[in-house]
Amino acid sequence: MSSTDHVDRYAVVGNPVAHSLSPRIHSSFAQQTGQALSYQAIELPHDSFTAGIRDLQQQGFSGVNVTVPFKREAWELCNHRSEAAQEAGAVNTLTFLQGGDIDGSNTDGVGLVRDLVDNLKVAIKDRSVLVLGAGGAVRGVLGPILAQSPADLTIANRTLEKAIELARDFSEQGSLEAVAYDALGADNFDLIINGTAAGLSNEVPPLPTRVLGANSICYDMMYSASTATAFVDWAHSHGVAKAFDGIGMLVEQAAEAFALWRNVRPDTTEVIRSLGRP
Ligand code: ATR
Repeated sequence: MSSTDHVDRYAVVGNPVAHSLSPRIHSSFAQQTGQALSYQAIELPHDSFTAGIRDLQQQGFSGVNVTVPFKREAWELCNHRSEAAQEAGAVNTLTFLQGGDIDGSNTDGVGLVRDLVDNLKVAIKDRSVLVLGAGGAVRGVLGPILAQSPADLTIANRTLEKAIELARDFSEQGSLEAVAYDALGADNFDLIINGTAAGLSNEVPPLPTRVLGANSICYDMMYSASTATAFVDWAHSHGVAKAFDGIGMLVEQAAEAFALWRNVRPDTTEVIRSLGRP
């Protein structure tokens, strides 16, 4: 009998996934809440996500988190989806049920909102919010942002058509406007959230500085373990006093997944601090 036979097994699957912080985060949660479980990072080949998941089910895993680039495929694979997953068109948390069915949830948006509102005390309600990017990452968080009732929500994207499509898809949940970066006017925003993939290549979106007001707050959905992200750097270098990276969002989406699986909500404060947020 191996040492893991008696504990429930979980994993994060992605490609690449070796540097994922999720095993560390979930181990902290397990320790803190006294839950016996194991959690590992598993890289799946790009072309065999479904086979990889079926294999983990066969092995007796209880659930997995899904990261880049498989969140859409995970959505397609689910037999049941939470409302957040349904509208996000992407799934980051799979729960394997008895009999082989799979439940899918998306905890990214809730994670972002919890980090902003609860941890950082950055209100969204009645504020003017600008979201940068119109890919899968942004689609995953728009519902929970709109549920906070911002005064207005603008989506800026390099490819304007994608922003227009997103604004249309979410139009029943609030008023959204889609714009190109160079069409952003002189009105500044209370909160600017970077949901683009620009940071992966150490770039920042072409955001005109006129959108920054004296009290604007910047938030990067990306995080960096060592140095500031490119967007946080950009914000600070243009005088923004409050700019945060997405380490808190990462921990909060994990906490939400943990709560779904284990029915107990871990405390996130210490975990976020241990990952470098002051
Ligand atoms: P993800 O799942 O991470 O959202 P995606 O669906 O490929 O990935 O979307 C990437 C997003 O980052 C898009 O909004 C993309 O803009 P385009 O739609 O115009 O391609 C944006 N993006 C990526 N690199 C960027 C850069 N250097 N500057 C600005 N936006 C960038």
